[in-house]
Amino acid sequence: MSRLITVSNRLPVTVRSTTEGWEFEPSVGGLATGLSACQGEYDGLWVGWSGLASDELSETDRVSIEHELVSAYDCMPVDIDSYAIEGYYEGFSNQTLWPLFHYFPQYATFDETQWAVYRDVNRAFADVVLEVAGPSDVIWVHDYHLMLLPELIRRELPEASIGYFLHIPFPSFETFRLLPWRKELLEGLMGADLVGFHTYDYGKHFLGSVRHLLGHEHSTGQVRAGRRIVKVDSFPMGIDFDRYADSSEDPAVARKVDRLVGELDGRQLVLSVDRLDYSKGLLNRLEAVDRFLTDHPEYAGRIQVIMVAVPSRSSVPEYDLLKRQVDEAVGRINGDHGDLSWTPVRYMYSSLPFDDLTALYNAADVCLVTPLRDGMNLIAKEYVAAHSEELGMLVLSEMAGAAQELGEALIVNPINIAECAEALCEALGMDDDEKRSRNSVMRERLRRYNVAAWAQDFVESLRGVKVVQAQLDARKLHRDGLEQMLGDYADAPERCILLGYDGTLVQVAETPEGVPPDDELLELLDDLGSVEGNTVVIISGRSREMLDEWFGGLPLGLVAEHGAWSRPPGGEWQQLDAIGVEWKNDFLPILQLFADRTPGSSVEEKDFSLVWHYRRADPELANLRAVELREAILSLTTHSDLGVLEGKGMIEIRPARVNKGAAATPWLEGCTGFVMATGDDQTDEDLFAVLPEQAYSLKVGYEPSLARYSVDDAKEVRQVLQTFRAASAAVGGSTEAGA
Ligand code: UDP
Ligand code: G6P
Repeated sequence: MSRLITVSNRLPVTVRSTTEGWEFEPSVGGLATGLSACQGEYDGLWVGWSGLASDELSETDRVSIEHELVSAYDCMPVDIDSYAIEGYYEGFSNQTLWPLFHYFPQYATFDETQWAVYRDVNRAFADVVLEVAGPSDVIWVHDYHLMLLPELIRRELPEASIGYFLHIPFPSFETFRLLPWRKELLEGLMGADLVGFHTYDYGKHFLGSVRHLLGHEHSTGQVRAGRRIVKVDSFPMGIDFDRYADSSEDPAVARKVDRLVGELDGRQLVLSVDRLDYSKGLLNRLEAVDRFLTDHPEYAGRIQVIMVAVPSRSSVPEYDLLKRQVDEAVGRINGDHGDLSWTPVRYMYSSLPFDDLTALYNAADVCLVTPLRDGMNLIAKEYVAAHSEELGMLVLSEMAGAAQELGEALIVNPINIAECAEALCEALGMDDDEKRSRNSVMRERLRRYNVAAWAQDFVESLRGVKVVQAQLDARKLHRDGLEQMLGDYADAPERCILLGYDGTLVQVAETPEGVPPDDELLELLDDLGSVEGNTVVIISGRSREMLDEWFGGLPLGLVAEHGAWSRPPGGEWQQLDAIGVEWKNDFLPILQLFADRTPGSSVEEKDFSLVWHYRRADPELANLRAVELREAILSLTTHSDLGVLEGKGMIEIRPARVNKGAAATPWLEGCTGFVMATGDDQTDEDLFAVLPEQAYSLKVGYEPSLARYSVDDAKEVRQVLQTFRAASAAVGGSTEAGA
């Protein structure tokens, strides 16, 4: 059976040193539960850090811990020493990525040494994964500690199924761009086949950054990076619903609830539970409680706030500071509002076991979940699930990912203290019918998309991506196709080879001026054009002048302006037929207006066409403007013979009958033998459409196309042409330069 290899910073087992030796306590956290749902199909294996510093263990302990983790828990530990823990975990993960991704740039440090350690530790994780992973295994990498891992694994296992899930927010480009190593992190993630986020927004931010920084376009959540496509989607993580919903039936929990209710003595319970983290908004929440007690003195002595703060990352300075601030704020509120018989806020700085936590969930009339930022927040979901009678009320921050699914809670902006205080008041006073109606909708949703459904959905989507990739791969020009093409090329007495230029023979240029051909390319074209029986034609959107300058002296046919002009080898330029140009006066000002309004874009005027180039403009703005421009042009060209041609980063207006297909037709009519055509963008589809059935057509890239085969890039096109040249030389064809 294939394995599902889960990789996360922490293993789902806590290892502790006790007087009796090492103690292993498996965690029943959400992720572990979700993954167990996939166990029917896959054997499980978990790769992660044990939480111990490897240099502080004796070799005997290290080996025996590893043995126990592997044999009893299917866990493969990654050794991390104390230096690496400081740089990778406390440092880059929790002092750079965590604050930045939660929109706290003021807490973020940008330390090159920590970055180097982060890279090394990701490498160490990759080594362990590569040791255990087989070709049919599914590898699922989790969270911000391991952003480089997908690419590191991909390098060694190009065909592997790799999923990645980020459990924290992915920030907007404006924040993400602050990171000096932003490109490396994106490239790391792009090694995955599927990148998952809790919400649509995080995925959108990621796609925006990929477009800005790596230049990869996306559509319907699929990023095209050469032959590979990477799927990006949202999967809001769920909880083990039944476990929480059934908790009140557990006698131990029921007893704790009874005791709590007794202690409350008729007071309403307001609960707050989080790790002690600045992203959780504890200080704002306390301020809201303060405000509520000030504005509503009638609640004095009638509510009890229990605040549980779970110790977390205390070696990071901001967490230590926050602990002191929370202590002080609690003391202040109790001093200001409490008396000998009533302490408004009971504060616990500790982690609670499941029974205690669910007893609190069950007993609480209101749960305040008001993070300043939170990837998801499971506390909110667990609280709603635990109230089987549906009588608790959740007050939830709009900044938590969970707010997308729990819209029936009282949603607040956590910065707005007055709003939070009023929401608390409303929750305390809400009548039972309303609470039931709000909760029942949320509970149903949580029941359906529970953590098992979440994990299965992710793994299923990953499988789907592999299917799409296999379909793309089938279009790839593999060795068989190439050999057949070469055989036909060598056998044919006449050969017509039609070549695009930008993006096909050279990389697409950033600027309209383009990339001039290099010597190697010129020599290759010269050789091919000189072979007896060969007709080699460059079919381009570029102007006559440019093509003349670049290729004028070679034995090549040339087609300029997408077919408006053509020239036989060494001959004169001929116009397709009478093409009017008077329309240009109407359209030039429109295009210029768009260029003025879209920084980085420009207008090019050719003999028979006008082009708006937007490749260097901000991609998001340019795409918007392109839609507007297309609509504007189409409304003006409906009753004329003008057409709109869209290429990579450009929109061209020209007479509709001018296209690469029409331009290629005379060359094709003159050739009865081998035909090969290649191009890279939408304008080349007209060319592919007019090719005879037996022709070979090669599309650069993997977008949908009429072409028979796809190749990765311009480099691969050149390789194909080089094999033609070699074949001609081998059969003794007269290549002046190549023979
Ligand atoms: N939790 C716990 N004991 C506690 C407090 C919290 O086991 O005393 C668990 C809680 O049940 C939840 C998780 O910790 O599953 C917190 O997850 P959440 O997404 O809310 O926040 P995170 O800590 O991941 O930022
Ligand atoms: C968040 C992160 C997890 C992390 C957890 C506890 O939920 O997304 O990856 O494990 O916090 O933090 P810690 O630093 O103790 O692992």
